Amino acid sequence: MALQDEIARRRTFAVIAHPDAGKTTLTEKLLLFGGAIHVAGAVKSNKIKKGATSDFMEIERQRGISVATAVMGFEYAGCKINILDTPGHEDFAEDTYRTLTAVDSVIIVIDGAKGVEAQTRKLMDVCRMRRTPVIVFINKLDRPSKEPFDLLDEVERELHIRVRPLAFPISNGPTFKGVYNLYEKNLSLFTSDEKQTADASTVEIDDLASPLLAQHVGDKLAEQLRQDVELVEGVYDEFDRDAYLRGELAPVFFGSAVNNFGVRELLECFVRIAPSPRPAPAESRTVEPQETKMSGFVFKIHANMDPNHRDRIAFLKICSGTFERNKNYLHVRSGKQMKFSSPTAFMAEKKSVIDFAYPGDIVGLHDTGNFKIGDTFTEGEALKFTGIPSFAPEQFRYIENADPMKFKQLAKGIDQLMDEGVAQLFTSALNGRKIIGTVGALQFEVIQYRLEHEYNASCRWEPISIYKACWVESDNAEQLADFKRRKHTNMAVDKHGRDVFLADTSYALALAQENFKDIRFAFASEF
Ligand code: G4P
Repeated sequence: MALQDEIARRRTFAVIAHPDAGKTTLTEKLLLFGGAIHVAGAVKSNKIKKGATSDFMEIERQRGISVATAVMGFEYAGCKINILDTPGHEDFAEDTYRTLTAVDSVIIVIDGAKGVEAQTRKLMDVCRMRRTPVIVFINKLDRPSKEPFDLLDEVERELHIRVRPLAFPISNGPTFKGVYNLYEKNLSLFTSDEKQTADASTVEIDDLASPLLAQHVGDKLAEQLRQDVELVEGVYDEFDRDAYLRGELAPVFFGSAVNNFGVRELLECFVRIAPSPRPAPAESRTVEPQETKMSGFVFKIHANMDPNHRDRIAFLKICSGTFERNKNYLHVRSGKQMKFSSPTAFMAEKKSVIDFAYPGDIVGLHDTGNFKIGDTFTEGEALKFTGIPSFAPEQFRYIENADPMKFKQLAKGIDQLMDEGVAQLFTSALNGRKIIGTVGALQFEVIQYRLEHEYNASCRWEPISIYKACWVESDNAEQLADFKRRKHTNMAVDKHGRDVFLADTSYALALAQENFKDIRFAFASEF
């Protein structure tokens, strides 16, 4: 198949949601449709159960699962679909944000009873920044839910995106009857024992005035649906695919993932409207997927589960050309040529060595500790892809060596864990002490545990009171120098040597922003 055709049939996306909305369940149903798995329950939930924060075995188990499900590929309707998994626990949100740099679209799952939740909002902010096309799936309609029009308004208002329902529910909770598909103009009737099967019973209804409707859902709900559909068609414009592709309009579906209801409609529409791999912005230019020369970037690094080997898997997103096994590629950061004898692809739970991969595909590369998040591979051009975010951490502790004999092991462990993007390392300008900054508190435990088990090093945490770390830059060198002098006790450098201001309080930060107008305070930096 020509490169062009391989690109056209690829759909690389992530399912994102606030924890418990049904992300894992929906993902599993999509895999069932794709024939990638055959029984429900095959995809393990990758969320860290509440109250398990100090259960290290649980963390290890989760890491094992998240390697297995990092990428799930399957074929459906002639398309090659790659689902990228994202961690459910919000302490690992940064990992999710980075994964979003490797997808071409997303499906957001919302719990119909709870509506838009905190994590949904944050994830949508990242999608909006990147203009990622978004489809919304409102889940759990088998339970008492908010009114559909209220939910649509809430999504529009809270997620700052225009919506267009492509399906509409007939009641919810115990009286839930099904979903009318506005896109295909048919009715899917709900039966609650669809867990194992991939097909819901559908009734073709071209004309909603048809008495057939009332036969299936009763007079009252039939009338309600007619009114609702009339209102939808009156209030919302025709579905505009270009607006969706620009990230301005979100098509909305309703259903119940656990009952496998509304999922087929979602998938059918998804393969039709979701984008194939999009151009990727790099520092010097934009890279088109159709370019014949291979290029790609590492968006995630995962440590091996075996503590005797420090090998890792780097996840490479192919941005252009054809990736080939055993071909030499330039590792841009080091300037070295490298080839890979066993690059892996992921089909649901199976890993297999591949000979070729195309734009949109994710390839697993064996790494002995040389790669970092953001690393680019090309056929010679010094490209650097942009937009892989590293967010300002909000939790800080000093890290101290607890075993003087293991200094080297500790340094190596910290270095490699930082490359994986587990946390960020800052060095205080005041006293040269090392400070670890994370997005969530759980990371401190993960770091300590992994340093012990993978690097045979031990560390101790000491408290430090910092409100936020932000990167500071300015074209006004004099003002920057003045700022650094005055704020000496609060200055640090990150691992790339960039200046970082460690604000004690939100007030101190606001004051600094007020007093030093020429300085940019950045809350996200790039790898
Ligand atoms: P997450 O990955 O977004 O965190 O959510 P997950 O799929 O694990 O789903 C969270 C809970 O919601 C699960 O129940 C799941 O069974 C349930 N769920 C998902 N979709 C639906 C739906 O359409 N209707 C209803 N009523 N429930 C749904 P749990 O009790 O936490 O786990 P489990 O023991 O049932 O697996």
